[in-house]
Amino acid sequence: MLDSVLVWIEKNRRAWLDDLKQWLNIASVSAVSAHDNDTAAAAEWAMSYLRGVGLNVRRIATPRHPCVLATTPDDLCPPGAPTILFYGHYDVQPPEPLEKWISPPFTATVRDGKIYARGASDDKGQVFCHLAALMAWRQIAGEIPLRLMVLLEGEEEIGSINLADVIKDHVDELKTARVLIVSDSNQFAPGIPAITTGLRGLVYYQIELTAAAEDLHSGVYGGAVANPANVLTQMLGRLHDSQGRVAVDGFYDDVVLPEESIRRQWAELPFDENEFVRRLGVPQVSGEAGFSTLERRWCRPTLDINGLTSGYQGPGAKTVLPCSASAKVSMRLVPNQNPDRISTAFERCLAVLKPPGVRLTLTRLNATPAAVTQIDSPAITAAAAALEIGFGKSPVFMREGGSIPVVNWFKELLGIDSVLIGFGLPDDNLHAPNEKFDLNCLYSGIRTAAALYDRLGGI
Ligand code: BES
Ligand code: MN
Ligand code: MN
Repeated sequence: MLDSVLVWIEKNRRAWLDDLKQWLNIASVSAVSAHDNDTAAAAEWAMSYLRGVGLNVRRIATPRHPCVLATTPDDLCPPGAPTILFYGHYDVQPPEPLEKWISPPFTATVRDGKIYARGASDDKGQVFCHLAALMAWRQIAGEIPLRLMVLLEGEEEIGSINLADVIKDHVDELKTARVLIVSDSNQFAPGIPAITTGLRGLVYYQIELTAAAEDLHSGVYGGAVANPANVLTQMLGRLHDSQGRVAVDGFYDDVVLPEESIRRQWAELPFDENEFVRRLGVPQVSGEAGFSTLERRWCRPTLDINGLTSGYQGPGAKTVLPCSASAKVSMRLVPNQNPDRISTAFERCLAVLKPPGVRLTLTRLNATPAAVTQIDSPAITAAAAALEIGFGKSPVFMREGGSIPVVNWFKELLGIDSVLIGFGLPDDNLHAPNEKFDLNCLYSGIRTAAALYDRLGGI
C-alpha cells in the first residue's frame, strides 16, 4: 500500500505546493500581538486540513495562542495500531528586516526550486510534509496505518510558554503515545538526511542598566556619573576569557561531554569547514579552544549577546550620556546543565561585575534544558528506514545546537522519548531574511513522512 501512496504523492506535487503556499501566506508571528488574528487563522488552517484528513480535531485555548490536538478516530486506523504523537509549531519568527527579503515574507514565492517565505522551513513546511502524507494515506488507503495524535503549537518561537500546562492538562491522553515525532530540524547537508539525537537547551536574559533619571549632556556631566553604556560593555566583555570560554563562575560545573565514541563518529561526518566558512561569510571559524566546529555547536555550552541597545543611533554626532543600556543574552546549554543553576550563576556573576554607580535589572525570558534522545529504538529504526525511502539515502546521526522545549517536557512529564527527523537544510535561513525550503526537501519530506507512518504502524 505504501507504494501506491508514494506514487500518489508524486502525482500531486503541484497540489501540495499550492496548499503549503496558502499556509505560509498567513503571518502567524507569535511574538507580535498585532498578528494575533493571523496566528489564530494559521491554527484554523491546520485544523481544517486535519479535518479534511478525517481526524477528530480540537482547538485548545491558552492565554496566548491556541494549540491544535487531532486524533485518529478508531475506524480510521487498523485495530491494535500503535499510538504515536506528532508535534510541530505553526507560529513563526518576526520577518524583520523586511528590506532584506527578495520577495515578501508572507507571499510564498518559488525561485530556483525553493519556496521562500517566513516559516517555509521553520516549521510550517516541515509540518506540512506530515499533513500531506496523512492526506495521501487517507485518500489512497482510506485509513492511516497508526493511531496518530497531532499536537500543533503556536508559541514555540516565544519559548512554548503555555505548552507545559497544555501537556499537563492532557496527560492521560498524551501519555498513551509510544513516541513523539518532531520534524523541526535539519538534514546534515544536501543529500545527507539525518536523525538528530540531541539539542542544546536555552537560558535567555534581558539585562537593563540605568543611572541618571534622564539622558545628560556628555560634556557637562561626563566623568561625574556612571555611563550605563560604558558599564554594560565592560560587564559583557568580562563574560568570556581569552580562550573563548564563558567566564561565569560554575558555568561548566555540570557539563557532561558525549562519549569518546560519539565524538569520533562526529569527526568522521563529511563536514566541509571551507563550505561552512564561505556560506556564512566569516573570515574563519571561531570559538572555544580545544573543540571542533561541530562540537562547539552540538555539545559545548555558549553565551552570546543577541541584542545590544543604548544611546544615540541616528546620523551624525549627538553628545549625550545615555541614561540606560540594555542587552539580550542567550546561553545554550548542554546535557546535565540545569537551567536554574545556570541562571543563578549568571545573576550572581553580573551582580559581582556591577559597579555601584548603576542599577541592574535582570529578566529571564526563557529556560529550557538540553535534550538527548535514544539512538536505538524501534522508532529510530523506523525513522531511518523512512528517510532511506524518502531521500534515497540512509541517515547520519547528529546533534543540533538549537532548542525545542517540547522534547524535554515529554521526557520529563510523560517519560516519552522523541524522534527528531528534520527535513530542512543548514542554509534555510531560519529566523533570518529569505527563509526557504527546498522543493526536493518538501517532496522527499512528504514521502518520508508517509513511509514513517507505514513503518511505525509495525512497531
Ligand atoms: N526549529 C528551531 C530549533 C532548531 C533549529 C532545532 C534548527 C534544530 C535545528 C526552533 O523553532 C527554534 O528556533 N527554537 C528556539 C527556541 C526558543 C525560542 C525557546 C531556539 O533554538 O532559539
Ligand atoms: Mn522550529
Ligand atoms: Mn525557530
